[in-house]
Amino acid sequence: MLPTQITSFEHYQSEYARSVNDPEGFWAKQASTFNWRKKWDHVLEWNFEEPNIKWFQGGKLNITENCLDRHLATRSQQTALLFEPNAPGDPARHISYRELYEEVCKTGNALRELGIGKGDRVCFYMPMVPELAISVLACARIGAIHSVVFAGFSAQALADRVNDADCKMIICSDYNKRGNKNIGVKEIVDEALAIGCPSVQTVLVHRNTGEEIAWDESYDVWYHEKVDGQAAECPAEEMDAEDVLFILYTSGSTGKPKGVVHTCGGYMVYTAYSFLNVFQYQPGDVYWCTADIGWITGHSYIVYGPLLCGATSLMFEGVPTYPDAGRFWEVCAKHKVNQFYTAPTAIRALMAQGDEFTEGYDLSHLKVIGSVGEPINEEAWEWYKKHIGKDTVPVVDTWWQTETGGMMISGMGGHSPQKPTFAGYPLPGIQPCLVDKNTMQEEEGNPAAGLLAIKFPWPSILRTTWGDHLRCKHTYFSTIPGMYFTGDGARRDADGMYRIIGRVDDVVNVSGHRLGTAEVENAIDEHPQVVESAVVGYPHDIKGQGIYAYVIVGAGAGADDALRAEIVATVRQEIGPIAKPDKIQFVSALPKTRSGKIMRRILRKIAAGEQDSLGDVSTLLNPEVVEELILGRV
Ligand code: WTA
Repeated sequence: MLPTQITSFEHYQSEYARSVNDPEGFWAKQASTFNWRKKWDHVLEWNFEEPNIKWFQGGKLNITENCLDRHLATRSQQTALLFEPNAPGDPARHISYRELYEEVCKTGNALRELGIGKGDRVCFYMPMVPELAISVLACARIGAIHSVVFAGFSAQALADRVNDADCKMIICSDYNKRGNKNIGVKEIVDEALAIGCPSVQTVLVHRNTGEEIAWDESYDVWYHEKVDGQAAECPAEEMDAEDVLFILYTSGSTGKPKGVVHTCGGYMVYTAYSFLNVFQYQPGDVYWCTADIGWITGHSYIVYGPLLCGATSLMFEGVPTYPDAGRFWEVCAKHKVNQFYTAPTAIRALMAQGDEFTEGYDLSHLKVIGSVGEPINEEAWEWYKKHIGKDTVPVVDTWWQTETGGMMISGMGGHSPQKPTFAGYPLPGIQPCLVDKNTMQEEEGNPAAGLLAIKFPWPSILRTTWGDHLRCKHTYFSTIPGMYFTGDGARRDADGMYRIIGRVDDVVNVSGHRLGTAEVENAIDEHPQVVESAVVGYPHDIKGQGIYAYVIVGAGAGADDALRAEIVATVRQEIGPIAKPDKIQFVSALPKTRSGKIMRRILRKIAAGEQDSLGDVSTLLNPEVVEELILGRV
């Protein structure tokens, strides 16, 4: 059985009303469509003060029995994962539900043999290959907690994440195929271990290209050697609904990235429910999400949501521009993709390459096209609708976050009204509101603008941040009393549709990748000649936001392009290429308030070229520096 599928806008409205009037009844009904070993005792217990949020308490389940076992009777031969490799000439791999079940079981047995059990943390550092999805599910099968780290992060960033969660194992590949490049993956894991990861006992290495890698008998184990001979049945660990399913690190406005924690029961119910409704998935459809499993979008909408619904989920190893900018559309045509889900940054990048790359491919199978990760500008929305959706396919602009686990505000396929740049209405069960940033009071009526907050829990809300519950409380539940604060600002139009404006905290969204400005500053400051730095986002045509760094260097340092290159290299080493500054301006001082705080508002305005609207700078401790910053803008 599957959750309720909405069939019209009126149906959406009645389901929404029900979900608000009787949230427990609403979610109990959805949850009852899954296989539970034991039914829950209470649907919901919560307060947003501590916070303490428990869904389906007392319920026992294993999410993989719902992703895999329960489909075997009806769709064992249907493709579960459709793997499209990096090179267009290489054959696609169709992995059926039966095969996926067996592979997950074999890998689960291998992990158990290597000493991994319930509650142990396993870190992943892998390219987009089926073995990543398989072994993530294998962790869930045996009750181990997966922590997937995007394979573009540096060795230092990997080590930080491994150590924060005391991971017992790292699963990686030898190499990552990206376009015409082969990127060493195992060597970065080796580097992370050299930095120091005392909790790691085993590195399980998947052979992807077969090229040479360094090998250390004391901890390296080949994936195929361990997995291939295993039994194809693996008893699933019985999990409590509130046992941890995974940790996923994400950036906030302060300090180190934090490990967002999701639990088994609620995450299962919500990812399946939202997948089914937003994409209006029908049996037999081929669904494709282009995200990487290193991000929440890949977790919820390549792996869990689609498999829970018995869907065929396409997984793509490559990049949108290899061998040319028509690759996405070629894959859509080749596999007759019905639902396509990507990020605005990819849309803008492909749009910039020219319309001709979209032509000549049969996109007639598309029924819904989606966007996620950052605000989509009107031009990109219109281009997507026209050139990919051929003006007839509905666009769903889905707003959500790592912390929300699933899509929160979005159209329901073609059933909802569409308006460019507007995510639209909340999903059933989601109670958003806008809050005045000064009074912290809810803005009633339409239109309205303010901080975007959520008033009531939904099943896949984060439960804590790994190892630091207080941080979870301070970051999300303290700004607006009694509510979950998203960090985003938004507007509601006269019809109550939501438009997300963007982050109101010190988080930048670069090509859909979330980065804390403090995190980038800390990385820049690692360069020996840097005294102080301040990082802000600025509007960037393709990336959405670019990174603009104001840097003070020590006496005697040459403030030139050579030093810029060194600073970029330092950031690559500390975080990874996704965090490298697009622009670096050397300055003698930063604008500060009398209490010593950097005035970021001014830095943002100058970086954006809006120096005419700086506002009052007279309260600064050092107003004279503003002129220098404007003149030296890069
Ligand atoms: C932004 C990605 C506008 C937003 C799923 C949010 C969006 C952050 C949209 C979360 C959208 C995501 N429209 N902005 N449709 N989707 N965002 O955790 O600022 O990587 O807070 O989750 O991305 O990024 P995260």
